[in-house]
Amino acid sequence: MSQTERTARRPARGRRERPEVPPEVQAAARRQIRTLGDPVLRETARPVKEFDAELAALSRRMIAILHDAPGVGLAATQLGVVRRVLVYEVDDGPVTLVNPTIVSASPATEVVDEGCLSLPGMTLPVERPVEVRVRARDVRGRRLEYDTEGLEARVIQHELDHLDGVLILERTSRQERARALREFRERDTGAASAGSGL
Ligand code: NI
Repeated sequence: MSQTERTARRPARGRRERPEVPPEVQAAARRQIRTLGDPVLRETARPVKEFDAELAALSRRMIAILHDAPGVGLAATQLGVVRRVLVYEVDDGPVTLVNPTIVSASPATEVVDEGCLSLPGMTLPVERPVEVRVRARDVRGRRLEYDTEGLEARVIQHELDHLDGVLILERTSRQERARALREFRERDTGAASAGSGL
């Protein structure tokens, strides 16, 4: 099998059950996640150049917060670290993508309601390509390139947006955006408000 064929496959990972997370652990994880109004969420993250122990530690910390929040995806930007790193976990084990790019996207799109850990309590309809081919490095600097579809493709696109300072508020209609912001302002933004997702 050629190198190209091998790297065209998604990395193999073990199936993993997501355990229930106690509320105080969820709250502690969510306190580390920047939310709407924090200017860092609008920054463009810088590419990673060193695949070192510090990067590995960042990846482990992001996966721990992803599990505890709990969420299906998290971008480094959401922790105030403006580097091009994202993690996600759909139904296999966690994946870390460093310097990810979308190589190609299907013409077919679909509209799905998305939540965001940085927008507690908000859900917005977002149209995105159903399938995308992603190219990235893993935490050790090895090249990855594979095709994704459905939720996995959606999560990667959502987190990549974070790395470019883009939130789902900019990916929805003006009406939906206005409604979501109105509800967000009216709601008590205490620690109990549950942001789902990405
Ligand atoms: Ni998000």
